[in-house]
Formats: sequence, C-alpha cells, structure tokens
Amino acid sequence: MEGLTGAVYRKLHHRFFGGADAYYIPFVTPTVEPKFTDRQLRELAPEVNSGIPVVPQLLSNRSADFIWAAKALGEMGYSEVNLNLGCPAGTVVAKGKGSGFLKDLYGLEKFLYEVFSADIPVPISIKTRLGWSDTAEFEDILKLYRKYPLSELIVHMRLKTDQYKGDARTQVLLNALDEIPFPLGVNGDLVTEADLKQADERFRHPHQLMVGRALMADPALFRKFKGGKPASAEEIRQFSKALYDGYTEAFGSRKNAMMRMKEYWFFQSCLFEENPSAFKRIFKSREEADFSAALDEIMSGGLLRDARFGWKKPL
Ligand SMILES: Cc1cc2nc3c(=O)[nH]c(=O)nc-3n(C[C@H](O)[C@H](O)[C@H](O)COP(=O)(O)O)c2cc1C
Repeated sequence: MEGLTGAVYRKLHHRFFGGADAYYIPFVTPTVEPKFTDRQLRELAPEVNSGIPVVPQLLSNRSADFIWAAKALGEMGYSEVNLNLGCPAGTVVAKGKGSGFLKDLYGLEKFLYEVFSADIPVPISIKTRLGWSDTAEFEDILKLYRKYPLSELIVHMRLKTDQYKGDARTQVLLNALDEIPFPLGVNGDLVTEADLKQADERFRHPHQLMVGRALMADPALFRKFKGGKPASAEEIRQFSKALYDGYTEAFGSRKNAMMRMKEYWFFQSCLFEENPSAFKRIFKSREEADFSAALDEIMSGGLLRDARFGWKKPL
C-alpha cells in the first residue's frame, strides 16, 4: 500500500511474521524517460528486496512507458510485473490511470494489445477493480482481459466510486468466477483468519488471497492462516520498535518516522481492545514520550485473537 508498506515495512514484516507468499510493492509510475529515478529504485532495486518475495507494480496508461519499465524489471530479475488498474486517488484517475483507465476500455484495449505484443520477458498480472461506477461494467472488463495471457488477475471487489468504503462486493466476483480463466487473486475486506478461510472456500481455492489494511492490523494474519501462532504482544512491541528505528534511518528524522508510525498504529491498534482516549492521544502527540505512553496504554489493554474492523466506513 502506497505510503504504508514500503521497503522498511516489507523487510521487517517478512522477518518478524512471514506467512505472505508475495508482497506487492506499492505502485511506481514509469516516466517517459526510460529510467527509474533514484527514489523509485529505493523501492525497486533488487538488493533492497533480497530474500523477500516481492512483485513490482506499475501505474501507467502509456504502453511505451509500461513496456520499458517492465523490461527493466525483468532484467533486474523479477518474475512478475503487476499493472495497477485499481487506484482510485483523484490525482491518479484524473490522468486516466489506475481505476481511471477502466473508464476508457478502448484505450485500455490498445494499451494491453501493445503491451502484450512487446516481447516483455516477464509475466504480466493485473490488479483491477470491478469497474468505475457500476458492477455491470465488470462483464466487458473481463471480456477485454480474456483476450490477453495475464499471469494472474487480482480483483479488489469494489468500484472506483466506492473508494475504500462500504462492503466489498463479493457476490459480483462470485458470479463471474466461471468467466475468469486466469489464476485469481481475491482482495477486499479479508480481516480475520475466518474471513480468509471463507474466501478460500467460496472462491474455490483461488491462487491468492490479497490483504491490505488487515495485515497492518494483524501482522500474523497469514501465519495464522497457515497454521502458525497469533502475534504476541511482545512481538508487536518489538516489531513496532524495529519499524520506528527503520523509518528513522530511512527518513533521517525521528519526527517524520513518528508520523509514519501514527499511520501504522491507526491499523495496529485494532488488534487491541478499543481504547478511544489512548487512540486519540496517539495522533495528538508531538513528543516521542507522549506517543510511547499512548502506545503503552493501548498495549496494556487485551490483545485480541482477531483484528477489529476499525477502519470500516459506510458507503
Ligand atoms: C493508503 C492505501 C494505499 C494503497 N496503495 C496501493 C498500491 O500502491 N497498490 C495496490 O495495488 N493497492 C493499493 N491499495 C489498495 C489495497 O491494496 C487493497 O486493494 C484495498 O485496501 C482493499 O483491500 P483491504 O480491504 O485488504 O485493505 C492501497 C490502499 C490504501 C488504503
């Protein structure tokens, strides 16, 4: 997740909890100039991700840019490149990228035709939403994808207009299962181990279950799904400390690291009993001592077996 699960998070999550078969690197937008920037390489360089199963993701609606970048990623040794057709951010869709590309199926068809004709030596997968504003769009979107040899189709079961709100539209994907000839990735509102098990059953054991926010709330979610143990409070404490130190080193600033830690704790606090006053203090704190005291108070409440769905918003 852009801004949340960068290299620092991925490395530490993999070391502390494991359980994920793949980490999708938050999207990178290739430029017209066929060269990744130093900033982009801080996420994409193979040495940054060594020993971690990662898949790079590109955000683009210009086939020439996608093609050079996918080829470069293949040369770096990556074994899959993912195209982001899901991001609903205003600045992204205004440029016709991410889920904005789903509004222009003619343009998307041309893009995919050019991409899949370009001898890219790496399998291409797609992360998509169900459509822009109407679930009926999914039929034509799937018809289009079926013309190309995608290595996987990951579906975030929402429309662009849903943003991240409301319930995932599970039934729409269930209804389309027979029309999907690719390995399937299922994504959206998989919060607990029971959710993962239910999705695994209902979607006929799909190739992947992708989890975003809930993995930040319950970093042991995949470990539990595979029969391992839940996170202990001590593990969370050590993980949180390592993240704080990792961000401090990456940003060269303890203050900026604390900002990022607040975003992480927005989710992580959902693995503890609800404590609204301590929760508020996390976000209000300016000094590290106040921040740490608020975290201690959250952690002194009981650790839950499953994360609370604390980030849920109505449509
Ligand atoms: C802050 C934020 C950043 C995100 N960045 C990305 C991204 O870079 N690439 C991507 O494929 N999805 C991104 N997503 C979407 C998630 O991967 C996921 O599809 C979505 O949150 C629904 O799944 P969840 O209910 O498991 O979180 C982002 C979501 C959030 C909230």
